[in-house]
Amino acid sequence: MYQIITEDGRAKRAVFETVHGTVQTPVFMNVGTAAAIKGAVATTDLQQIGTQIELSNTYHLHVRPGDQVVRQLGGLHRFMVWDKPILTDSGGFQVFSLSGLRRIKEEGVYFQSHVDGRKIFMGPEESMQIQSNLASTIAMAFDECPSSVAERSYIENSVARTTRWLVRCKEEMARLNSLPDTINPRQMLFGINQGGVCEDIRIAHAQEISGLDLDGYAVGGLAVGESHEEMYQVLDAVVPHLPRNKPTYLMGVGTPANILEAVDRGVDFFDCVYPSRNGRHGHVYTAFGKLNLFNARYELDPRPIEEGCGCPACRNYSRAYIRHLLKAKEMLGMRLCVLHNLYFYNHLMEEIREAIEQRRYGEYKKQKLAGLLSGEQ
Ligand code: GUN
Ligand code: ZN
Repeated sequence: MYQIITEDGRAKRAVFETVHGTVQTPVFMNVGTAAAIKGAVATTDLQQIGTQIELSNTYHLHVRPGDQVVRQLGGLHRFMVWDKPILTDSGGFQVFSLSGLRRIKEEGVYFQSHVDGRKIFMGPEESMQIQSNLASTIAMAFDECPSSVAERSYIENSVARTTRWLVRCKEEMARLNSLPDTINPRQMLFGINQGGVCEDIRIAHAQEISGLDLDGYAVGGLAVGESHEEMYQVLDAVVPHLPRNKPTYLMGVGTPANILEAVDRGVDFFDCVYPSRNGRHGHVYTAFGKLNLFNARYELDPRPIEEGCGCPACRNYSRAYIRHLLKAKEMLGMRLCVLHNLYFYNHLMEEIREAIEQRRYGEYKKQKLAGLLSGEQ
């Protein structure tokens, strides 16, 4: 159940109730692709940095260790020891971004595993079956994310097929949820809007899938090479055509600035590899922009990454020490940077929720963006 608490312009502050607990939105989902947050971050750490919901990938877990293995161990929640909500992406996007050879047909996609080259077929039914075995809280529909440079005619055909796939996903999920031995019989399904940067195709698609009464709606196919302005224009055009009384999820986005802008356009779920990927490279977020802790200027810097930050890194360690760890290739260095970055994103979302509740989101966004762009300290 999704309920809006406060609206401020188009920004929504809402609560989303699931069988695995309540999510306060807007929210940033922490990415654990293969049932692990990269950077040696454990689920016990996530509890401490304010993570509300975790995201994993159907494709990766199907390839390794196999969704049947996860099912036999009681589902993803028990397997990775995380009792809060989990969203699984459907595999569509990962098939397109990871596997070399692939063939798209009406029934689904034929491709090769990026791990061992084995031939795999995945269609809407297979994706739903795998996600049902994983027993995530929210399953994503199986979609095609067309290339950002695809021709209009290709996008039209692709979106029409993604709609047919969505109908098949919905039917298969209903069937799986009614089986007696399904681990999570209340698994939810989010549909995914596509259409590249063709606003008319996007809008027609949004209207069509809105009629399917799904548990939530995602905007996919963005942050794949188009400019930030183009992405904001697509959101301006399409979000008003998705049900406002359902969660709106912008897939794979993004920078703190992208999130601030998308919240202002009505988006309330996000996920992105930036905080963990940047952390692994010693790039850490602050209210005044990103720092590169490899930089020599931090060699003797006794300050925490960010003054006043409540994360496990900043509560205990200096920039100088973390820089040393990174330079010495000690795993603890990247772990501390990832913990800080995830805390930063989670905390940003907390501030966003508070600003909407107090109906000062516009002013908050302006100040926050100015700070983020002010440069390294
Ligand atoms: N993650 C980022 N973009 C997309 C998308 O368009 N589709 C899916 N399934 N996942 C994504
Ligand atoms: Zn910190």
